[in-house]
Amino acid sequence: MGGTVASGLVVGGLWASEVVREGLAQEAQAATELPSPAPVRVRPATPITKHTELEVPVETPTMFLGVADDVLLAPLRDSPITEVKFNKGGSSISLRIDFENGARAAFKPRQTNWQSVPRREVVAFRINRLLGLSSVPPAIGRRFQLSEILGALHPDSRFFRPRLKAEMIQKDGWVTGELSWWIPVIQRGRVDGFEIDSMEGIVSWKRYLAVGAKIPDRDLALIQQISNMVLFDFIISNPDRWSGGNARVSEDQRVLYFMDNTLSFGDRPDGHPKARTYFERCQTFSRSLVARLRTLEESEVRQALERDVEPFDFFLRDPEIKALLSRRDRALAYIDSLIRQHGEDAVLAFP
Ligand SMILES: Nc1ncnc2c1ncn2[C@@H]1O[C@H](COP(=O)(O)OP(=O)(O)O)[C@@H](O)[C@H]1O
Ligand SMILES: [Mg+2]
Repeated sequence: MGGTVASGLVVGGLWASEVVREGLAQEAQAATELPSPAPVRVRPATPITKHTELEVPVETPTMFLGVADDVLLAPLRDSPITEVKFNKGGSSISLRIDFENGARAAFKPRQTNWQSVPRREVVAFRINRLLGLSSVPPAIGRRFQLSEILGALHPDSRFFRPRLKAEMIQKDGWVTGELSWWIPVIQRGRVDGFEIDSMEGIVSWKRYLAVGAKIPDRDLALIQQISNMVLFDFIISNPDRWSGGNARVSEDQRVLYFMDNTLSFGDRPDGHPKARTYFERCQTFSRSLVARLRTLEESEVRQALERDVEPFDFFLRDPEIKALLSRRDRALAYIDSLIRQHGEDAVLAFP
């Protein structure tokens, strides 16, 4: 994780949204030229030094929509809540929170639905960046007083008050969970005119992700990112992508967002069958993502999960880290068998 760039972190939401607009424009431009993920973790050839006596190598910060993750996360860390709305549509408790400084985030609390584990969203974000991707919205842990959440409920969401009280796990009046930076506009993605998570849409992108398939220019950007998504979901063992609107896209249909990863991880070395089935439907992959998977080391995973753990007790248990690396090995074994059959250029078809 890029961690040493500290300037400009204390920004209000309004400023951040300006920056994001600019970032979005750049992202759209970049997507037109090269719809693959921007490379991150580039270490400058010459270390940049702050003091002559203290050489501090500065890594390029990881980004989302053209803006450094840390810049987007800073305003979510301690500003008081002004308004809370219930996000309908999903099966778990998910809230939209507005903060006094103008920032906005999605909040997933620890809840009685034991499958939805908020710390895992933060892990998914960090692993996403560790692999050089910029597709999971930046996420951090935070805790709130239950009374602060309930006291800011929007009138339209007051109906959910009893459910919030019953299902959010509290300890001494506090609720712990995860904040994901709020993507201002999301919409349904389409391939061949079909929604990407409909039966027809899945059949379409699966067809385009077969070796040798000709992909129409119109759909190329999304298809490449779907390939990254199914590979990523296998690595993190995410069973919850293709139902419930967890694969959404930008307004211009060029950026695919990997949203809602709270059911991921666990200790299955062969991955959740759902994640595995989607992955094995795919035969073409990004050359740079596969190269990054080959170099990924356990120490990097541990390091990425070492900092900023509060208010969680931990991010992943040892068996979960081992299982993640086993899934990486299995993913590469599958991709290498395809390469032996069809050749590298046919399989590593995307940049
Ligand atoms: N980071 C975000 N940016 C924008 N909208 C979001 C974000 N997170 C969640 N949402 C909205 O809230 C809905 C429910 O969130 P989700 O995390 O999918 O919860 P559930 O577990 O209930 O499916 C999403 O379908 C989306 O419309
Ligand atoms: Mg969801």
